[in-house]
Amino acid sequence: MNIVTIVGARPQFIKAAAISRVLRSRHREVLVHTGQHYDPNMSAVFFDELGIPPPDVNLAVGSASHGAQTGAMLAKIEDVLLAERPDWVLVYGDTNSTLAGALAAAKLHIRVAHVEAGLRSFNRAMPEEINRIVTDHVSDLLLCPSQTAIDNLAREGITSGVALVGDVMADALRLAAERADHSTLETLGIQEGAYALATVHRAENTDEPGRLRGILSGLATLSIPVIFPVHPRARRAIAALGWTPPPQMRLIDPVGYLGMVALMRSARVILTDSGGIQKEAYWLGVPCVTLRDETEWVETVTCGWNTLVGADPERIAAAAHQPRPTTPRPPLYGDGFAAERCVTALETWNVERKRGSIER
Ligand code: UD1
Ligand code: UDP
Repeated sequence: MNIVTIVGARPQFIKAAAISRVLRSRHREVLVHTGQHYDPNMSAVFFDELGIPPPDVNLAVGSASHGAQTGAMLAKIEDVLLAERPDWVLVYGDTNSTLAGALAAAKLHIRVAHVEAGLRSFNRAMPEEINRIVTDHVSDLLLCPSQTAIDNLAREGITSGVALVGDVMADALRLAAERADHSTLETLGIQEGAYALATVHRAENTDEPGRLRGILSGLATLSIPVIFPVHPRARRAIAALGWTPPPQMRLIDPVGYLGMVALMRSARVILTDSGGIQKEAYWLGVPCVTLRDETEWVETVTCGWNTLVGADPERIAAAAHQPRPTTPRPPLYGDGFAAERCVTALETWNVERKRGSIER
């Protein structure tokens, strides 16, 4: 089969690293990078470290408002799809690149497979929630990481073309775990288990000065060093606030995945508004404090390893200082072999369709 894969943002490179290996062993993949993320430490570093084949096409769309960015991607992806006429378009997650890829393909009657389908925050103010809902509704194959995702789709009337495959980020973590770059801790002069790791990039936090101030104040009260790899969006927002970090907070540039895995694994606690990092914290057995009012990864909260605190400084500090959970940490979101199941689902879709079991 011919498959066009659309990626554009940091977490999509990491997810594609897991699937592309399996896909390319059996099929032809054309990798399209929209250019949504373009700084070397937001893009190239992941291709280099994770051995992702260089993009076959780079649309170099760059940053813009939602409409301008998604529209530019849509037009350029359409050109690629008209030239390639693939059997499938594969999209990941919930970014503007995901939405553009899915829409471009659906309008050309090319089948769409969505990795990380069915996730919902039930907060339509999040741009990602709109991207997820639209993408899921134009997808032919919905590759879900959890039963919750399948249930969410069923509530919206999507019950066929749905497969429970597990989470490809677990595959990515499994593949990277042995290669984690522990020299990152040495370079920063920090000790295992003696620091907090923080990340912030959601629009709801970076674009709301009140919330951003609340988060920064909460982080600033922690009694242990806080390592904070700063997403460019947050860097700009923090500069606009004119905020200066206290001495125990270290604002550093975004790090590569191998350095990030080392930083996550050895942290005492992780504070984040990232989707991916909430799961990685869980898999690595590090308590997570989520700087949001809701999460798509509800199971991590239910079992006591993730605490939702929003942007309130006192709740942030209280949650970060809590003792390590003693509740069990049952396996969630698959076994680290989701990529194989995703590719098999693509391969068997027609067969299944004839049987009528997953036809949409
Ligand atoms: C995007 C996704 C979000 C995902 C995140 C992963 C959307 C709507 N949002 O958010 O779901 O969780 O990626 O990190 O698709 N910038 C740079 N250099 C870069 C990239 C971005 O400086 O290489 C700056 C630009 O000022 C840009 C801003 O960051 O305007 C936001 O970038 P954008 O890709 O629009 O959204 P993210 O916040 O990265
Ligand atoms: N990540 C990274 N370096 C960093 C910050 C994050 O490698 O400096 C990784 C992180 O471990 C996870 C992914 O990037 O695998 C998550 O990306 P992000 O938080 O930007 O997006 P989200 O998952 O919220 O969509």
